[in-house]
Amino acid sequence: MEGFGQPVLLLMKQGVHRILLYTDRHDELAMAECMQELVNCYKPSSLYEGDGDVDFDDPAYQACYVFLYFPALCYGIFDSLQQFYFDMHLNMLLERVSLRRCLNVCALGGGPGTDLFGVRMFLNSRGYKDIRITATVLDRHSSWDVAFECLLASLDQQPQLSAGYLHFEASSRRVASEHLKAIAKADLITCSKFVSAIKALPNARHTLKELLSHAKPGAYIFYLENSKGGNTEFFSSVARQANFVEVATIDRGEENPYQLPRAEQSWQIKELSQLFNFSSQRNLRVKCILWRKTGQIPAVSPCSDGRSYTRFGHDSARQTVPDHHAITIPSANYQAQRKARLEALRQQQLQAHRQLSNQYITGYYPDTQRYQRPEERGRQEAESRQRRRTEVQQSRSATTCPCILL
Ligand SMILES: C[S@@+](CC[C@H](N)C(=O)[O-])C[C@H]1O[C@@H](n2cnc3c(N)ncnc32)[C@H](O)[C@@H]1O
Repeated sequence: MEGFGQPVLLLMKQGVHRILLYTDRHDELAMAECMQELVNCYKPSSLYEGDGDVDFDDPAYQACYVFLYFPALCYGIFDSLQQFYFDMHLNMLLERVSLRRCLNVCALGGGPGTDLFGVRMFLNSRGYKDIRITATVLDRHSSWDVAFECLLASLDQQPQLSAGYLHFEASSRRVASEHLKAIAKADLITCSKFVSAIKALPNARHTLKELLSHAKPGAYIFYLENSKGGNTEFFSSVARQANFVEVATIDRGEENPYQLPRAEQSWQIKELSQLFNFSSQRNLRVKCILWRKTGQIPAVSPCSDGRSYTRFGHDSARQTVPDHHAITIPSANYQAQRKARLEALRQQQLQAHRQLSNQYITGYYPDTQRYQRPEERGRQEAESRQRRRTEVQQSRSATTCPCILL
């Protein structure tokens, strides 16, 4: 809602309706079965056995996933990036991408692009709407691009966001050169709920390390995973071996999970909940970690659109990330700055919520196949009642006419 100017639940709902156009399995029974299969594959026992996947090349499963997980994960990514931002951990990254007006992202196991929408939402809300995100998604199921495009098409305003999908198998020992290229140019590598899906697979550790070793110095990893299950230990050891240092951690586990804002009203997706026989997730219990690659940071290079940004591509733009763990030393007015930023954010949120309640109290009506406001819908229903009354009166007078004549 905040970053897109429209509720994420409505974005999800319209995205799912679009994805469903790519499958003929629309009936409640078929969808409920897909949903059950999806939920089973993410059970701890399945993940432990290395069964944490379904055939996401089938849009029916994509629709189930987007319905169930997209909104909560999108907000989780957005919220944790905000937190990292307020704690001043993203300054270096934002400085660099502001110079180029472009952020290169590589999303590992990016699925429908949840990670990218979360990052987009964050950039929009921080006033970086015009910074283009060019992304490469590495995923076993490259047909996820269907869901990504459907979600993108469902945004009211087309954002500066594009993604190319590459088939990538975490359990294969060989990492293709196109994957290495995608990682090497990334300013930000996202890894949202990917480790839990692949951790138990043979070679996953080796493949991940190989991939991350090719990231450029100064590149960041945004990691988000289930708090439980040994995922963080697994990923931390791989990231360290690939010369990343931990910058900051946020723990939003059992005690303090992320929650969808109240303005994201679940009644708006009632008919989808009936179709899937499930509720869309509203809480998220995760750990988020920000990592940064050590070494000599290269000069700011142009974006891949061929535009030249040589004005900033000189040596003075070089920065070095220390090899030891990053320690943030708060400046004297750090707390005051942070408080002011948080207050500004609260005001923005308040305003956005007010706008939202005016703009988006709509419902989806299958007969008109549109989202409509109550007053528009009320007017339409009154008109159709009036039409029906007139029709009944006309048909009555048509049948009584012959009797009068007799
Ligand atoms: C839980 S989803 C996360 C998707 C997305 N990052 C998000 O946060 O919504 C896990 C992703 O990992 C992908 N995946 C599962 N097994 C994989 C494998 N062996 N190699 C590559 N990708 C895999 C799935 O296709 C899916 O997109």
